[in-house]
Amino acid sequence: MSIKTLFTLVTLAVAAVAAPSHRATCSGGRTASNAVCCKWFDVLDDIQANLFDGGECGEEVHELTFHDAIGFSKSNPKAGGGADGSIIAFSEIETNFPANLGTDDIVEQQRPLAIKHGVSFGDFIQFAGAVGVSNCVGGPRIQFLAGRSNVSVAAQLGTVPEPADSVTKILARMGDAGFSPSEVVDLLISHTVAAQDHVDPTIHGSPFDSTPSDFDPQFFVETLLKGTAFPGNGSQTGGALSPLPGEFRLASDGLLARDPRTACEWQSFVNNQALMVSRFEKVMAKMAVLGQNPRTLVDCSEVIPVPKKATSNTGFIPSGKTLRDIEASCKTKPFPKLPVVSGPIVPVPPVPPS
Ligand code: HEM
Ligand SMILES: *[C@@H]1O[C@H](CO)[C@@H](O)[C@H](O)[C@H]1NC(C)=O
Ligand SMILES: *[C@@H]1O[C@H](CO)[C@@H](O)[C@H](O)[C@H]1NC(C)=O
Repeated sequence: MSIKTLFTLVTLAVAAVAAPSHRATCSGGRTASNAVCCKWFDVLDDIQANLFDGGECGEEVHELTFHDAIGFSKSNPKAGGGADGSIIAFSEIETNFPANLGTDDIVEQQRPLAIKHGVSFGDFIQFAGAVGVSNCVGGPRIQFLAGRSNVSVAAQLGTVPEPADSVTKILARMGDAGFSPSEVVDLLISHTVAAQDHVDPTIHGSPFDSTPSDFDPQFFVETLLKGTAFPGNGSQTGGALSPLPGEFRLASDGLLARDPRTACEWQSFVNNQALMVSRFEKVMAKMAVLGQNPRTLVDCSEVIPVPKKATSNTGFIPSGKTLRDIEASCKTKPFPKLPVVSGPIVPVPPVPPS
């Protein structure tokens, strides 16, 4: 080796060490640490414009993240492939499961977008879910790992918990998918931006709390209020008495809020929005890679928008109710004092259809 070649090699080595970290240039002047993340900016623009009407809090969309991923079982590897996109690929099987009623609309909205951008169904579902909740006031910023295979396995009937299931049955099913009782509560943070259409089909878009487009702790407060009436056409399988006109309570949510195995995690969120968001980010990151090997995926979290900050860290007692209406259920900690809104009971309006 000549001195000159050696010199060149040394210069190159020094240049490599000193080189500024190279970021890939993506569309719209945006950059990414890994070039494979660039296409997700285009997917982002498309779903913000066409799935979320210019960036609204996409509450129904993250339901699919769960219904796809939960087709996973430690005890029965044949139960499904986890977060693999099978709810889209095998929609004719999976969207007909009773627990997946109503998911067919979202599946058919997402399918053409995933195909258009050439991304796997599994990636698309988890990405859209993370973007949807990032649009909510106070929303989480969920990790997004890209690169799931487009090959999936149809989930088996019975992997998705149902609202009429007992707490023991729900915790057993979720435990078999790898989630502790506290993590089941953490996953249910999703219900703070959610509504029902199918448990009682006579009322549409009846939300699970009075602030369904805010990622706030109201769901955890209001599920603990004493139930007084049904918002729709009386008692339904999977429904329970709710505290406010127009508001819907799933039977499973009412029971999990009060069960000794889950009540303290439930109560921990009523005055702690920040804790709620951090727990949700953690458990959603876990759920999004069920059945996947995360080491084979690329971290494209930087594409997920930064949500607007929450306006308050605490939930409140809605007007017309008092702290005495709370059915406190955590045996080891007193229920915290919450702000009480004065005035008469205000009916909760339905969330508009998307
Ligand atoms: C114990 C587990 C769970 C049960 C029994 C359950 C049950 C339900 C039911 C019955 C509905 C109403 C569907 C309808 O009638 O239209 C619903 C809505 C919803 N759930 Fe869950 N769920 C569970 C966990 C989760 C998880 C883990 C997530 C997400 C990570 C999730 C996200 C949602 C969303 C976003 C909606 C609202 C859909 C809409 O607004 O149309 N749920 N859930
Ligand atoms: C994923 O599979 C579906 C068929 O289930 C196909 O239509 C789609 O083009 C595939 N997407 C990719 C990125 O390969
Ligand atoms: C309401 O429920 C009653 C009985 O529970 C049933 O006969 C009636 O058809 C229901 N109404 C609607 C609009 O579904």
